[in-house]
Amino acid sequence: MGNIVFYFSGTGNSLKVAKTIANELENTEIISMAKPGNYSLKKQYDTIGFIYPTYFWGLPKKVIEFVSNLDFGNNKNAYYYAIATYGGECGKCDKSNI
Ligand SMILES: Cc1cc2nc3c(=O)[nH]c(=O)nc-3n(C[C@H](O)[C@H](O)[C@H](O)COP(=O)(O)O)c2cc1C
Repeated sequence: MGNIVFYFSGTGNSLKVAKTIANELENTEIISMAKPGNYSLKKQYDTIGFIYPTYFWGLPKKVIEFVSNLDFGNNKNAYYYAIATYGGECGKCDKSNI
């Protein structure tokens, strides 16, 4: 079925992580979370990842908005994961309730 990685990146660190993971997993789409509009997961995926920087000990607002509006379609059984890059203190960036 394949994999999909959603990323948000200001200076390139999270994009580099996304590209590295996509390269390892193979058969992986890389999609920016910075694009306007809602994204619909039309296809079914084996794994669905979210990669973003820590902003102020949490998630960037853009990422929260993107994930909150994401149409998960028929991907209830996919393996979901999230990776937060950070500068020194990640705080609650891995504990969001979205
Ligand atoms: C607005 C802003 C807020 C940040 N807040 C934090 C923070 O609270 N904790 C931390 O460890 N790093 C923080 N950082 C550093 C970034 O999380 C880190 O440099 C990250 O790897 C950047 O990823 P990117 O290159 O994909 O944008 C912040 C950076 C920016 C620009």
